[in-house]
Amino acid sequence: MNKLDSEVVAGHLVAAGYALTESSREADVVLINTCSVRQHAEDKVWSLLGTLRARKLRRPDLVLGVIGCMAQKERGAILQRMPHVDLVCGPMELDRLPELVAEVRQRHERVVAVGEGHVGRVPRAVTRRPNRVQAFVAVMRGCDNYCAYCVVPYVRGREESRPLADVVAEVEALVADGAREVTLLGQNVNSYGATLGDGTTLARLLERLDRLPGLERLRFVTSHPKDASDALFRAMAGLPRVCPYLHLPAQSGSNRVLRDMNRGYTREHYLERIARARALVPGVEVASDFIVGFPGETEAEFEETVDLVRRADFQNCFVFKYSPRAGTKAAEMADDVPWEAKQERNRRLLAVQKAVMRRRNAAMVGRTVEVLVEGTSKRDATKLTGRTRANHIVAFAGAPRLEGRTVSVEITGFTPLTLFGRMP
Ligand code: 5AD
Ligand code: SF4
Repeated sequence: MNKLDSEVVAGHLVAAGYALTESSREADVVLINTCSVRQHAEDKVWSLLGTLRARKLRRPDLVLGVIGCMAQKERGAILQRMPHVDLVCGPMELDRLPELVAEVRQRHERVVAVGEGHVGRVPRAVTRRPNRVQAFVAVMRGCDNYCAYCVVPYVRGREESRPLADVVAEVEALVADGAREVTLLGQNVNSYGATLGDGTTLARLLERLDRLPGLERLRFVTSHPKDASDALFRAMAGLPRVCPYLHLPAQSGSNRVLRDMNRGYTREHYLERIARARALVPGVEVASDFIVGFPGETEAEFEETVDLVRRADFQNCFVFKYSPRAGTKAAEMADDVPWEAKQERNRRLLAVQKAVMRRRNAAMVGRTVEVLVEGTSKRDATKLTGRTRANHIVAFAGAPRLEGRTVSVEITGFTPLTLFGRMP
């Protein structure tokens, strides 16, 4: 969602006559798009703002802005602690940035925009996406789930879905601009349509988009285990463009922790949902997020998470150390798992998942897969990288002109995260 926000902001500014620079040193306007999900992300911004102080002193005409979730959450502290910041703009007002930057330049005053926006207000014809083949489309904003640890509902506001016709028009424009794969984004994309009050669902949106000429692949993230329904799995199975990939964060394998996280499901429900997805959607791959060291998490409760990861057979897992966020329910509980224990649980869970990925990737060797080529590899310019429909990352030798094409690749080797192959 943040990457998309950055693209949309860049798109709005370019439309207003600005040009992007390679290095922030050359820039007349520097905007830092921020995340508040964990403290670590915020710490990095504080330190970056500290290092930009000297530059702003040297160049008073430089416009320095903090935008996104941390701007919303920490606006008071930013204005107070960082007098060299000119502009603070929350995630719900990003479409106003050209106007806000102009205001700073004309009035030489600090500008703050942290109000509630409206999903219908942001028309986005073309973005500055990093990759021509792929595009993100936000189908909703905000979140009403109030997971106990999570700051998102406080910084991104109430859940609100965009009208189906607006989403379809945006996807059509992106396909006309060369996109072959579109990923629909929502904090809880399974509840897409709920606020529209006209019976619109994610399944219906997928059905509508599946018919668009020129679009090869459709993905959606992130799913919530309490709302991942059989109807959705059936839609995934029945629609040829919809990719068999589910990002379905479990967060924990302990029912006590899940209850205190306010996640609204049990480990049994979670395991039943992924079993059902696998029964209904041929070849589906499931990935998950976990938080280790949530308040009160005992060694035995953590072991239940390890057990869930062993059973679930995930394609990939993202593991985060619990970070208390002010204003959330969990911040009222004692953050009582020592940092070293969080660190150790993080390492252990990743090691378990790594073994799972090694075994699964080894089983892929010798198979031929369909890869949508995204571009040349960052590590090795002679190689191309892309993804299978089920979201395996594949690297192989090939000509750059294949970017945007779907090719067959025979898998010949692997690391836990990447498959290597050759074009026959
Ligand atoms: N501490 C640690 N991880 C968090 N996440 C969300 N909030 C927190 C927090 N306070 C993780 C969740 C979520 C992912 C995007 O970030 O696992 O799925
Ligand atoms: Fe945060 Fe939970 Fe909403 Fe995800 S579903 S954004 S974790 S509150």
